[in-house]
Amino acid sequence: MQDIKKYVEANKQRFIDELVELLKIPSISADSKYKKDLLKTAEAVKQSLLDAGCDVAEIHETPGHPVVFGEKIIDKNLPTVLVYGHYDVQPPDPVELWESPPFEPVIKNTEIHPEGAIFARGACDDKGQMYMHVKALEYMTKNDKLPCNVKFMIEGEEEVGSENLGWFIEKNREKLQNDVILISDTGMIAKDVPSITTGLRGLSYMEVEVTGPNRDLHSGLYGGAVANPINVLSKMIASLQDENNRITVPGFYDNVKEYSEAERGKMAEAPFDLEAYKKKLNIEDVHGEEGFSTLERASIRPTLDVNGIWGGYTGEGAKTVLPSKAYAKISMRLVSDQDWKNISQLFTKHFESLAPKSVKVKVTTHHGGQAYVTPIDTLEYQAANDAYAEVFGKDPIPQHSGGSIPIVALFEKELKSKTILMGFGLDTDAIHSPNEHFGIWNYLKGIETIPYFYKHFTKLKQAEK
Ligand code: BES
Ligand code: MN
Ligand code: MN
Repeated sequence: MQDIKKYVEANKQRFIDELVELLKIPSISADSKYKKDLLKTAEAVKQSLLDAGCDVAEIHETPGHPVVFGEKIIDKNLPTVLVYGHYDVQPPDPVELWESPPFEPVIKNTEIHPEGAIFARGACDDKGQMYMHVKALEYMTKNDKLPCNVKFMIEGEEEVGSENLGWFIEKNREKLQNDVILISDTGMIAKDVPSITTGLRGLSYMEVEVTGPNRDLHSGLYGGAVANPINVLSKMIASLQDENNRITVPGFYDNVKEYSEAERGKMAEAPFDLEAYKKKLNIEDVHGEEGFSTLERASIRPTLDVNGIWGGYTGEGAKTVLPSKAYAKISMRLVSDQDWKNISQLFTKHFESLAPKSVKVKVTTHHGGQAYVTPIDTLEYQAANDAYAEVFGKDPIPQHSGGSIPIVALFEKELKSKTILMGFGLDTDAIHSPNEHFGIWNYLKGIETIPYFYKHFTKLKQAEK
């Protein structure tokens, strides 16, 4: 497979150009205005799968955005890899903070990416990383190097909670039958430190509404005498964490997996520079749960964050008003073995109990998903390890990530196969932020590494028989 490097080098410009075209379509799943663009993106993905050598590529309608399925079956007796990815992207807001328009990709050099990076919404999360798999397949089919069967399931609702994917999987279990699920939708520690994601956090996403008086009031005539829902909400939110930054929802930590000192020691071996971390974010200090390191706080510990808070007057100038309502979107990142539905219930009960009699509260659950952890003493992990080792010249480091791909836990349950998370993004690639980008080096390295996973996985799987 030595020639993959040459193939990538020879086709580099075309690989970039094709991704740029895909990035021009604003496939924002959260906003119904873009429904047509999601379909257009799904069609482009479908076509790219056919061009790359799939025998079959289909668009499957769902109650939400469509799922693209593709496959190349070379021999039913050989193992099958199922690639999962998503073609939808986060909203680009706040648009004014982008240095170039989010759906007009440009290539610029950065300190970390001197070889250039593609700046566009979805460049790294996940169009760029998903497309690495399409190009890796192209190499394998065009050069007669595909050692096993491959299937693709590329969805359009990951960024809004994959609400219809469970339904799709249930209906298509046969079609999706596989021996391993391969995903590139996470990150790596650094360009010279390859890593495999072995843990993802779960998520429970809530919205709260606090209602005071039945209409907005003059804050002079009523202020001080009637509860202000924004003041009340702020106090309620503040009480959700104690002085050690532990979450105060009763029962919240009941099922949190505690790691042994030995395990924590092992995790702490991953390279991490706290000073550089603070500097990059322009913060004087970090913050978090007492007794845990920054890396631990952002991976193996659960959290609670307000994602948005609104109410009252936020326009230009000043308006004196005691608002009738206040709202917040609150998410909790969960770890194994917390159950997201249980946590949503505990949160609801606790939040309702916090409300003083002067206001009414309404709590709703948006979406959620279970956390995911995978052992490293498996054939699947070994295959991924060997793939990185061959390309990078060193073993990858297993690492828990703080992010969530809620559907991963469900995959294992429904499809009974292990998942390998081969991410090539960097933490500094600004996913979900303005100026998201994906390094060209990372993009090409991903395309180069993926065929080796196929090779090693097939080899190990065959030897097992
Ligand atoms: N690709 C990310 C998740 C991710 C990024 C995991 C980097 C690990 C490292 C995914 O698209 C994402 O953003 N997931 C959401 C959850 C979803 C329900 C909106 C998240 O983590 O906020
Ligand atoms: Mn993603
Ligand atoms: Mn995302």
